[in-house]
Amino acid sequence: MTGGMRIAIDGPAAAGKSTIAKLVAKKLGYTYIDTGAMYRAITFKVLQHAADPRSEEEIMQLISQTDIELQPGEQVQKVLLDGADVTDAIRSHEVTANVSAIAAMTAVRKLLVAKQRQLAAKSSVVMDGRDIGTSVLPEAELKIFMTASVEERAERRLLEEQQRGMSSDYETLKREISERDKADSERKISPLKKAEDAIIIDTTGKTIEEVTNSIIEYAEKRLAQ
Ligand code: C5P
Repeated sequence: MTGGMRIAIDGPAAAGKSTIAKLVAKKLGYTYIDTGAMYRAITFKVLQHAADPRSEEEIMQLISQTDIELQPGEQVQKVLLDGADVTDAIRSHEVTANVSAIAAMTAVRKLLVAKQRQLAAKSSVVMDGRDIGTSVLPEAELKIFMTASVEERAERRLLEEQQRGMSSDYETLKREISERDKADSERKISPLKKAEDAIIIDTTGKTIEEVTNSIIEYAEKRLAQ
């Protein structure tokens, strides 16, 4: 294989997907696409407009006119919703608590999956999410399924949120992560699931550098084929 490729990174909440995906993209010179940020942006809009989160029709109407833009940055990828910067706002506990229900809706997934495929058609990408290897890019040249123990995931998320100045506690985060994984795994359309041909990487006890390097190695092997 010559040129670029598509790398799909899926896995449960807070497994380190976005941190690693961003670094892998940077090293390879690929575009990083955080699909979770897109579902979060839609959820933010639904909450902002006080739309009924159970009414698919109301939500469809609201999101049909939505523009979501992901802008690459040194530290964080900026998320613009209808032109407004919502990068921090989409990480709130309120958005996190509601995102799985919104992401389970057919209309929402149709809209965002189409957008994700458009983005991947333009350049080589590292895309992270829940259904990238199984549904968005089933032909991706490299698929990774990243996991870690729920305890370590809660610890990492706690540190991340504390650094962002959010008030969080370990037990609440652990519960929130487990509930979100359950909802994401049990939903009807494109649930969180390992693609048959995905490589499992358990990041428990591993450093960011170790995981990044092992994905780069897999990518280089694939590119050499
Ligand atoms: O990746 P992140 O934790 O920010 O994703 C937030 C939520 O968005 C997930 O819990 C899931 O409900 C939804 N999501 C999804 N499919 C994706 C990415 C995220 O359903 N590809």
